[in-house]
Amino acid sequence: MSMVFPGQRLPRWENAPHVLQTQQFDRPFLDALFAFTNHLLEEHRRYDDLWVSHIGVRRQLLSLFYQPSSRTAASFIRAAQNLGMQTYEVREPLQFSSEVKGESFTDTVRTYAGGNDHAFRIADVIVLRHPEPERVFEAAEVSRVPVINAGNGADQHPTQSLVDLFAIQREVGRIDHLHVGFVGDLKHGRTCRSLAYLLAKVGRKPSADKKDDASADGAKHVAEERGTRFTFISHPNLRMQPDVCQYVRAHGVSVEERADYGDVLPTLDVLYVVRLQRERDPDRLAALAPELVPLRVTPESIAQLSRTARVLHPLPVDSSNPDVSEIHPELCAQARSKSFRTEPDPRLAWFRQADYGVPVRMALLTAVLQWW
Ligand code: NCD
Repeated sequence: MSMVFPGQRLPRWENAPHVLQTQQFDRPFLDALFAFTNHLLEEHRRYDDLWVSHIGVRRQLLSLFYQPSSRTAASFIRAAQNLGMQTYEVREPLQFSSEVKGESFTDTVRTYAGGNDHAFRIADVIVLRHPEPERVFEAAEVSRVPVINAGNGADQHPTQSLVDLFAIQREVGRIDHLHVGFVGDLKHGRTCRSLAYLLAKVGRKPSADKKDDASADGAKHVAEERGTRFTFISHPNLRMQPDVCQYVRAHGVSVEERADYGDVLPTLDVLYVVRLQRERDPDRLAALAPELVPLRVTPESIAQLSRTARVLHPLPVDSSNPDVSEIHPELCAQARSKSFRTEPDPRLAWFRQADYGVPVRMALLTAVLQWW
């Protein structure tokens, strides 16, 4: 990858500097973002000395979360601080902001994002998570500063997808010609929606690759001719929504939908697991939980995957009832194990995936600050 660091601008993306949905990104932007993230990871002992640690000085990131979060909010805050930014966190704004007094959401955003002089402004970047999908677009309309979508209802979670795709690149070694299985509550899971949009948009199409890789060996060539493939595995009531299916097919991705694993596991490069999103419809979805047991990831299903495949999960795993959790508790214990006596199975990759949250968000915030 030919990137010149330090100080080079990352490419501009559609509708920059806002980050609202993954369809905004294109391949040149992603290649540069991931090259820069790799650069940060390789330079991690020295990044304190780099221009990177100063790009956010005298800038403030506001984290405005109307829904719970462990990883997203915390990793944005750490990423911002690593860039020299200050951070201000409003958790549960419906209790602690003036919305309690009846202020409208857009007035709240306008207040935080107001003022032309950054020295006197409250926020220079707003990271917003909201249960109502349209709020993030309304925020971008009224905000004078970049708005980053950290999850808008059951719609999208674009920065999680950047983390997911970066994890795929690091763990599988490529983001093209992948066979990705998505399993779980595909109807309400915003992370699988965002990732499907993103992979379909940026994955190279087979015809272009035949030219690029004229010297590739036979096996590789067969994979490339196939291009990106998705298998959506879900209970019939939790199928991927038609907007995603239409978009990915229109972008040349072949899609199979099924209600069980069948013989698909050995052919996957990535198994992307999402939990049952109970909070979207508590009574109805809780009643479905026992029916999802055949789709849970177990030691037996892992044994069917190829050694180079990876199981990813945006987290959290719902461990509230270990008998129906989407990942078997034994695998969860293995994945988080600190024991160096037993080599953990590299296919259980979800905590390494989460660990990429800070560097990927550092790279994204750098791009946002550069285009702001
Ligand atoms: C996800 C989310 O909030 O959509 N969590 C996250 O940010 N990593 C996934 C989920 O809640 O299932």
